[in-house]
Amino acid sequence: MDILVVGGGGREHAIIKQLRKNPQVDTIYALPGNGGIAADAVCQPIAAMDLDQIVNFAQLKQVDFAVVAPDDPLVAGLVDRLEAIGIPCFGPTQRAAMIEGSKSFAKRLMQKYHIPTAAFAVFDEQEAALRYLAEQHCPIVIKADGLALGKGVIIAATQEDAQAAVIDMMSGQRFGKSGARVVIEEFLTGPEVSVLAFCDGKTVRPMISSMDHKRALDGDQGLNTGGMGTIAPNPYYTPEIAARCMAEIFQPTVDAMAAEGRPFCGCLYFGLMLTPDGPKVIEYNCRFGDPEAQVVLPLLETDLLEIMFACREGRLAEQPVSFRAEYACCLVVASGGYPQQYRKGLPIEFGDIGDAIVYHAGTRATEYGLETAGGRVLGLTCVASSLRGAIDAAYRAVEGVHFDGMYYRRDIGARALEAGGRG
Ligand code: AMP
Ligand code: GLY
Repeated sequence: MDILVVGGGGREHAIIKQLRKNPQVDTIYALPGNGGIAADAVCQPIAAMDLDQIVNFAQLKQVDFAVVAPDDPLVAGLVDRLEAIGIPCFGPTQRAAMIEGSKSFAKRLMQKYHIPTAAFAVFDEQEAALRYLAEQHCPIVIKADGLALGKGVIIAATQEDAQAAVIDMMSGQRFGKSGARVVIEEFLTGPEVSVLAFCDGKTVRPMISSMDHKRALDGDQGLNTGGMGTIAPNPYYTPEIAARCMAEIFQPTVDAMAAEGRPFCGCLYFGLMLTPDGPKVIEYNCRFGDPEAQVVLPLLETDLLEIMFACREGRLAEQPVSFRAEYACCLVVASGGYPQQYRKGLPIEFGDIGDAIVYHAGTRATEYGLETAGGRVLGLTCVASSLRGAIDAAYRAVEGVHFDGMYYRRDIGARALEAGGRG
């Protein structure tokens, strides 16, 4: 069986390593893949947003199944196009991907179906947004409606900052079309939990929970990034909270999407905040999180491809999905300057990294060896029987990696350990 995986980051590497475990899998094509993925898949230099070329390639190679991992091709309708030429896919259709593609759509869905989330208002006009803002308390949260590479969220501490953010977004300079519409929402507090869930349009099967660390620097300082490290499971996510999320958020969301004629098939990501009033949705993503996938998938016991088939065929309710009762920690190793300006083409050297799994995010293979090709360069994941064991192993492993200007956060998992860590 030949499989196509669209994308080329750490998340895609984690998906591919998991798919490799299925003995029926012959060739995995990664579009575009990267320097490390090349060891596990055949990489083809076709960008994830080059929909025409991807469809041509899939047809040419007669692939048996496709996994579309990143948000933008999902939102642009790649799954619809592949399915239209008879290639079964894991991933939502364009209509279902709207749950991530438009924050105002997601907020109105939650409002209509009584799914707990921050209070909000949606604006297409700057004047109206500013008038509304003047009556709100700070801090307040301003979000660009569309995809903005995870950077379309501003938490404004003062009225001045909030107004500046609205003007900045709505005048179209900063986020282009994604910012023409803004969502202004209530600032919530509490620990954050990421829950990825398999969905087949009707059934939702949550995976093990995780915790991301989104800011660039220790102590949650610095700029927002795509994610600097993750641990799983998340100690704040107790069985009681999980049951509540299932009843109040997960199943209602999947039911709501089905009721709207947008059945969601694929991985639905719930970004949750455990507020004093209970769990609330901060955001939905229509895909695996990155670097959440790099801690969740290594703990998956069941064959990933079998689960993906079950999602595609609407038989997830009968499909076993189990996780190892262990802990994982992923450290993202980034290039100096990320998430702003950073250099590329820096040679990467590996020494002793113990048992760490190396997920490549931004690397390129050259005739001289591996070099950096992105801001987030590698994810090092360690699995252990305790959270502390997984964290310690990951920090030992990172000592064995070197490139000029590399940096990583020193406190991945620290808050989780303080919270009890369940081991
Ligand atoms: P997002 O891109 O929607 O995940 O937002 C990025 C980060 O902004 C989240 O992980 C939260 O830490 C924070 N955030 C988003 N919305 C809110 C909110 N309503 N209240 C507090 N923090 C928020
Ligand atoms: N790590 C957050 C995301 O994938 O959006």
